[in-house]
Amino acid sequence: MSFTDHILLAPLIRGLWINAAHESSDTGCPRVVVPSAGADGTIPAQAVFADLSAAWTGDGLDEAVAAKALMDAYAAWETGVAQKGKQPAGLTQPSCARIKTPSGEAVYWIDRDLGSARKRNETFDASPLVLSGTNTVPSNSDSGIAAPGASAVNRSLVVKNKIVLVTGGAQGFGEEIVRGLAASGALVFIADLNQAGAEKLAETLNSAEKRIAAVAVPVNVSDEASVEALFKTIAETAGGLDLCVSNAGVLKAASVLEQDVGSFKFVTDINYTGFFLMAKHCGRLLRRQNRTAPGWKTDIIQINSKSGLEGSNKNGAYAGGKFGAIGLVESFALELVEYGIKVNAICPGNFLDGPLWSDPEKGLFVQYLNTGKVPGAKTVADVRAFYEAKVPMKRGCTGADVMRAIYYVVEQEYETGQAIPVTGGQVMLH
Ligand SMILES: NC(=O)c1ccc[n+]([C@@H]2O[C@H](COP(=O)([O-])OP(=O)(O)OC[C@H]3O[C@@H](n4cnc5c(N)ncnc54)[C@H](O)[C@@H]3O)[C@@H](O)[C@H]2O)c1
Repeated sequence: MSFTDHILLAPLIRGLWINAAHESSDTGCPRVVVPSAGADGTIPAQAVFADLSAAWTGDGLDEAVAAKALMDAYAAWETGVAQKGKQPAGLTQPSCARIKTPSGEAVYWIDRDLGSARKRNETFDASPLVLSGTNTVPSNSDSGIAAPGASAVNRSLVVKNKIVLVTGGAQGFGEEIVRGLAASGALVFIADLNQAGAEKLAETLNSAEKRIAAVAVPVNVSDEASVEALFKTIAETAGGLDLCVSNAGVLKAASVLEQDVGSFKFVTDINYTGFFLMAKHCGRLLRRQNRTAPGWKTDIIQINSKSGLEGSNKNGAYAGGKFGAIGLVESFALELVEYGIKVNAICPGNFLDGPLWSDPEKGLFVQYLNTGKVPGAKTVADVRAFYEAKVPMKRGCTGADVMRAIYYVVEQEYETGQAIPVTGGQVMLH
């Protein structure tokens, strides 16, 4: 099997297993799929077998044909289990699939979390996955969603066992989101230009959570080849994705009368074009997963800004890219709804405790103090007080505020193409 084939097949397999788990209301509904080298002779007899040779045409993989062949193979496994009478039908799922392709055979191991799926691969444990229910509840609610009126802590169950990706996850808002999602039971891919920072955070979380809670992957969101490689890595590592948080962003504030075009393009390439590249390659993977899991909703969330909702003085490159990205969100939402993909933006206010503002050397507080942007300010505390006073709720936005919005967006299955302000009342709808 080549690297390319896993990105094609693993999401189809993952979708199929998610879809089948729906039928049992299993609380660990999302699945992790681990592709393996799978030497012949080491493939367990219990594996679901699908011959997808006929699904490859001159143009590549015919995903619809592959999806049908996979569904038929899965049904044959279920029939076999039911006929043997050893397990009540519907209470188990296969944990291993053997796939034949024109370029050879591959084996995929399936379980609820990455650690368990990897262990099956290492030990060739193909015993079926035991599910936890029997009723049919075809909705993402199977992942353990809280009842109406439940607390935010319970609401966080909406991401439990899901596979999520956060770009720019090594620091700032991204780090807060990564920490929140990992604490809620998700498997988090931390994708950042700062690979060392992403790896350090992943190690910290894995030891705190006592499981594989996070995996670091390098990416430059403004480089298409890098973004494409990111999604290949995700498919190769875990099979697919449920939530993509496109958070990486930069700010270079400057007057329209002074800003050089290089600096304008730098900001635009990351904040605007970078989001397009993320949605393009994420959308392709999620569409593939949707072919075998048509009822499963997935999410692309762009971390936008209050500056995507109203202009920002001497900060046009940033505000323009953020405004533009809301146009992308609305347009992508219209197109991708067909594949069960919701696309929304979250627009936070200033994260005054984050490094962008508070870094003692390069932070905006120090910069604004030194450039005299805040009239009469003599200390960093004066600059901070000035920005806090602009917010009706008198404080900056926090990671916890953004996490509540993320849980809402994921939980809300009946909304897409929205830009949700999280600004303490600083920006209101008009
Ligand atoms: N900080 C705020 O006050 C604030 C307010 C509203 C919205 N936002 C938005 O939140 C997001 C995060 O902002 P932050 O303040 O936490 O930023 P930050 O500068 O603290 O962190 C940004 C992270 O993104 C990474 N990154 C930068 N360029 C990248 C690229 N090309 N590819 C991959 N990773 C890259 C950095 O290495 C860093 O880890 C941005 O989209 C920003 O516009 C921030």
